[in-house]
Amino acid sequence: MSGRVWKRKDLLGLKDLEAEEIELILDTAESFQEIGNRPIKKVPTLQGRTVVNLFFEPSTRTRISFELAEKRLSADTVNFSTDISSTIKGETVKDTAKNLEALQVSLVIMRHPSSGAPHRLARYLKCGVINAGDGINEHPTQALLDMFTVRQKKGKLKGVKVSFIGDILHSRVARSNIWGLTKLGAEVTVCGPRTLIPRDAEQLGVRVTTNLEEAVDGADVINLLRIQLERQKESFFPSIREYAITYQINRDVLKKAKPDVVIMHPGPVNRGIELSSDVVDGPYSIILDQVTNGLAVRMAVLYLLSGVKS
Ligand code: CP
Repeated sequence: MSGRVWKRKDLLGLKDLEAEEIELILDTAESFQEIGNRPIKKVPTLQGRTVVNLFFEPSTRTRISFELAEKRLSADTVNFSTDISSTIKGETVKDTAKNLEALQVSLVIMRHPSSGAPHRLARYLKCGVINAGDGINEHPTQALLDMFTVRQKKGKLKGVKVSFIGDILHSRVARSNIWGLTKLGAEVTVCGPRTLIPRDAEQLGVRVTTNLEEAVDGADVINLLRIQLERQKESFFPSIREYAITYQINRDVLKKAKPDVVIMHPGPVNRGIELSSDVVDGPYSIILDQVTNGLAVRMAVLYLLSGVKS
């Protein structure tokens, strides 16, 4: 990418991005991080621009983080969710989008339960679209904030050993992280019950194991994924209790980990299932650093996609 200039209209996933584009976002986020330490956490960068947050699925972290990032950049923000919109009267996403465009919005942030929904929206709209999580496909800003946090804690991404443990099959977070981390030279392992690992996982350039000890041994970073019962149409393992016995990260498991291992989770955490409560709140956990860093990363993404010249 010549001159490190952002050229894309949309951010739909990390699969399509070049390593240099991902690095540009992470480096831009670093410069935005300082704003969070100021007494007045606001800059005029997006003054006069309107950003619409279009959420068709529940969200706590992503939605609040985007809205706060927009406000810190002085954008006008509009929040829109299915329960209060005309989609319940049968309006299509395309018509909703066209109406938003008629209102001259600058950027649309979209979360949707269907994989590919933001990609369809991006084809209809002249303004930029940011994918805030689509079905089981991608969650690019979550992966970017995860990568930013790994780079912050470990000083680099190249050669860092990152293990994802849990429901890999239904995880858009894992998918985006795999694309991003492997492009930047990290060594990725995925671990969980065989039924929750995509059949083509090895072809994505990751190590696959069903053995928790193997995934923990030598890992610099362990990123836990929630069992997504809401996306499972069949039973993928005998019981939650059995899953927790085999795959939970707790104090005993961490005795076999590297002393400087860090524990990550995109949230929401199911305490006592994928992670014991004491590990969530313990010294290895950097889960809340992820949330904090998400703000700078989303400010960087909004800034780059808005095409504003600094
Ligand atoms: N990590 C994440 O996407 O969390 P929310 O569903 O709360 O946005």
